[in-house]
Amino acid sequence: MTDHVLTEVKDRVMHITFNRADKKNALTHAMYSKVVEAMREAESSDNIRAMLFTGAGEAFTSGNDLVDFRDNPKMGPDAPVSQFLQCLLTSKKPIVMAVNGIAVGVGLTMLLHADIVFAAEGAVISAPFVDLALVPEAASSLLLPKRAGHARAAEIFMLGKRVTAQEGYEMGIFSRVLKADDLLAQAEEAAVALANKAPQSVQRTKMLMRGDIEEVGARMEKEAKLFAEQLFSSEFAESVMAFMEKRPPNFG
Ligand code: COA
Repeated sequence: MTDHVLTEVKDRVMHITFNRADKKNALTHAMYSKVVEAMREAESSDNIRAMLFTGAGEAFTSGNDLVDFRDNPKMGPDAPVSQFLQCLLTSKKPIVMAVNGIAVGVGLTMLLHADIVFAAEGAVISAPFVDLALVPEAASSLLLPKRAGHARAAEIFMLGKRVTAQEGYEMGIFSRVLKADDLLAQAEEAAVALANKAPQSVQRTKMLMRGDIEEVGARMEKEAKLFAEQLFSSEFAESVMAFMEKRPPNFG
């Protein structure tokens, strides 16, 4: 068990906090496992009606821990990251995300599966999969172009464009941009409000708004296959080496 993810049930809301501030809340396999455990508890307990995700410190999350993923590239349906994505895909309970700072990679793509997403004014989101020699995951290759339009999604995935909170709001990724000091309180208020509403109505509304989960699941699977291939590629090894050595990658 790791305290790199904090979980707490309060007012019928499962609070999940990425808590590895010194590494910008980069997500290891162990952290994904703890998140999955909390999400499964939330889904199965009648006393939990909503989930709230945020990050400790300055970051929401800098995405997959690149070193953990390079040294221990677990993929396939049993891998903790795959189980996390599956939990997002199949979640029945509403999810609120409070993006307190930088959100990279899965830090952005998980937002596309949440119901209510607020950002702090200084939050910056990016998903530079091509810069990392990876491909999009979490069905984001389907969901982000739908949300933001193909051209803007391509700048994010392929050029590694960083998007401010305000730009994210304009793309429909965030519904509110808030002062940093107000973010958590407003997100909690929204989560508690959801938890107090008629649960069947909330869950059915979520299900209806989500649309074709089979299509989304199929895209996730397709992405996962290519993502796994990229994880074992020499170009990914070079991108991680460059990150660790704090230099630009050289792809030849
Ligand atoms: N995986 C592993 N370690 C990470 C990490 C990640 N995704 N993101 C940050 N870290 C580590 C850094 O290596 C650094 O460790 P160190 O103090 O031992 O050197 C520490 O967290 C702080 O990060 P740093 O880069 O110094 O902070 P910053 O504020 O200058 O930049 C980011 C923050 C998030 C922009 C930058 O760290 C970054 O680009 N990280 C990689 C993001 C990424 O590519 N994620 C994968 C998506 S699939």
